[in-house]
Amino acid sequence: MSDAFQLRSDGPRVRPLRGTVEVGGAKNSSLKLMAATLLAPGRSTIHNVPDILDVHVMAQLLERLGCTVEVEHPDPTLSLRGSGTVSIDVPEDLDPEAPYDLVRRLRASICVLGPLVARCGRARVALPGGDAIGSRGLDMHFQGLEALGAAVHIEHGMVVAEVRDRLGGATLWLDFPSVGATENLLMAAVLTPGWTVIDNVAREPEIGDLCAMLTAMGARIDGVGSSTLEVEGVERLRPVEHTTIGDRIVAGTWAFATAIAGGDVTVVGAGTRHFQIVADKLRTAGAEIETVAVPGEEAFRVRCEGRLRAFDVATLPYPGFPTDLQPFVMALAATAEGTSMITENVFEARFMFAQELARLGADLRTDGHHAVVRGVPALSGAPVVAHDIRAGAALVLAGLAAEGTTTVAEAHHIDRGYPHFVEVLQSLGVDIERVSEATDDPWPAS
Ligand code: UD1
Repeated sequence: MSDAFQLRSDGPRVRPLRGTVEVGGAKNSSLKLMAATLLAPGRSTIHNVPDILDVHVMAQLLERLGCTVEVEHPDPTLSLRGSGTVSIDVPEDLDPEAPYDLVRRLRASICVLGPLVARCGRARVALPGGDAIGSRGLDMHFQGLEALGAAVHIEHGMVVAEVRDRLGGATLWLDFPSVGATENLLMAAVLTPGWTVIDNVAREPEIGDLCAMLTAMGARIDGVGSSTLEVEGVERLRPVEHTTIGDRIVAGTWAFATAIAGGDVTVVGAGTRHFQIVADKLRTAGAEIETVAVPGEEAFRVRCEGRLRAFDVATLPYPGFPTDLQPFVMALAATAEGTSMITENVFEARFMFAQELARLGADLRTDGHHAVVRGVPALSGAPVVAHDIRAGAALVLAGLAAEGTTTVAEAHHIDRGYPHFVEVLQSLGVDIERVSEATDDPWPAS
């Protein structure tokens, strides 16, 4: 049996979304912050960590490396924000081996590589393999670690990294501002003696969050927020208490949901500060977005009425349009008035999602990393399959604009990125439920 999300809709803008949604901590920050605790023996505590499967897998991985991890999340009947606290006791001596059974469930586990090399002088981390959004190379991670003094090779499906003599500061250039490579190299550099300069780094807000936590642990990092990070390695870091930034991708998801279904929704826990370009695109399409004052929180309100207009989007590293929101753009474009052009510059295989959207009646065509979407007045409900977190969530959102019943199978992908996804949509007035489906397929695709 596998879970599916089933929603019934009378079509677009018949049942507008209304209410307030609370957004918790960013998945893409929390996982790296949890890995960064490995850099300092002692007990670190991270607040505003989302209650999602990936966090629990990362907790298991840290335990396998020798840590003791406590994860506390509030009762969902009290709050749908789904964010809690993770406390990690890191021992003096870590076991630097991250096995395949856990790594294959969480690609982000590769981010333990940098901390393990810095702390233990060696690491064996299973190679995560590709996933449904592309091949996702790791060459920049390996080249950077080599430049810092480690020898890296692949052996029986494991990445094996061993410090040759000693780690030493170096100047590194990334071919592309990779989020994962920036984080891994930064986490290795903070404990590497001497100065390390990393040029052409990713500038995603989650990297700013990691820098803030590392600095609070005693790391010396200059250039935070810019394309060049300069790190002066220190001998030892101290444990920390840190609060994760709000999840801009989850916040963006609810903004797109409102744009697709119509309505009036306030999003609390993340502001538009980190997605000005997204807010601007939604305004171009005809949505109203404004910052609202909520004490102690960032918040914004989205209002939409009627059918929105087509718009063009090209994904790019931050501060460009986030690739993680691209499937939602496609879902919105599918029912907007006019023709939209979408260009995917970060993950080549992300358009696999287009085939599922076409099952809901979207009129679209992809060619390489471009997609042309001709908006239709309404989609029509159908069974579809989620292949990754964002594509799965975007199919549910497309279902808001589809007449009839839409069933999104393999919903566990959505659970990997969104705490209480179904309950949040229900709270906004959506007729949606979680159902269990038999997985035995008598007619498998050949
Ligand atoms: C992270 C995010 C993901 C987001 C992506 C881009 C996490 C857990 N995931 O993924 O949600 O979509 O950033 O914002 O934080 N590449 C190489 N060689 C490398 C490293 C990357 O070729 O050594 C390529 C990848 O194949 C991809 C592109 O660079 O085409 C971007 O990857 P990267 O920024 O590293 O993304 P992730 O860190 O995997």
